[in-house]
Amino acid sequence: MQIIHFNDWELLDAYAAQTIINKIQEKPDAVLGLATGSTPLGIYAKIIEAYRSKEVSFAKTTTVNLDEYVGLSAEHEQSYAYYMKRHLFSHIDILGDHYHLPNGLADNLEAECDRYDQLLEQNPIDIQLLGLGHNGHIGFNEPDTKLSAGTHAVQLKAETLEANARFFESAAEVPKMALTMGVGSILKAHTIILVVRGADKAEIVKQALTGPITTDIPASLLQTHPRVIVLLDREAGRKL
Ligand code: GLP
Repeated sequence: MQIIHFNDWELLDAYAAQTIINKIQEKPDAVLGLATGSTPLGIYAKIIEAYRSKEVSFAKTTTVNLDEYVGLSAEHEQSYAYYMKRHLFSHIDILGDHYHLPNGLADNLEAECDRYDQLLEQNPIDIQLLGLGHNGHIGFNEPDTKLSAGTHAVQLKAETLEANARFFESAAEVPKMALTMGVGSILKAHTIILVVRGADKAEIVKQALTGPITTDIPASLLQTHPRVIVLLDREAGRKL
């Protein structure tokens, strides 16, 4: 595991974006695993800048997102499909049928999870971008006594609902369920970039990266992966 500390967010964003851009330049049809949340916003902004200055094209690239809320349409402003369009896809030349998220509106969630797993099998992830939840979740793989390898529906924990309430008008509006790629699929990615910012995540960063590997902290399973790059701002890294 390579851990890199940054004093400055700009530099962290630039480093993460450049790692992704280098991969696309070397392999234009690479598959990117993408994340949502506030953490990757600056990275997406840098990727858009690079696209605008013609450094990189995504015309052959495929992307697969980690997760989506159950019950929100792609037009809902808080859905992850909407987030991805707003913050990345509508600004770059990725083809409309080359980016994928689980469909939170599917009638049959089990069938939707199977569809997503097949898609992941056909599109092995070259680089997976990950944020970290305050309770150690990755994607929406919440702490539990057991974790799932494949895509599954998950009941969100109270602390996750609370953390994500800031994006909704009221806490009651936060969907209680989500579909998420499983930890097994995340760990199959060739390279994983875990990005964490902020003092409020310093303790969970320490536990996830240096503590025991446990399903109570899903991110701790990243310790078993051979190619994880962890990018931390000063606050998130201060307990290491
Ligand atoms: C959500 C997402 C995760 C994300 C996490 C942290 O729960 N499902 O993929 O990593 O929140 O979000 P933030 O980056 O806003 O702290």
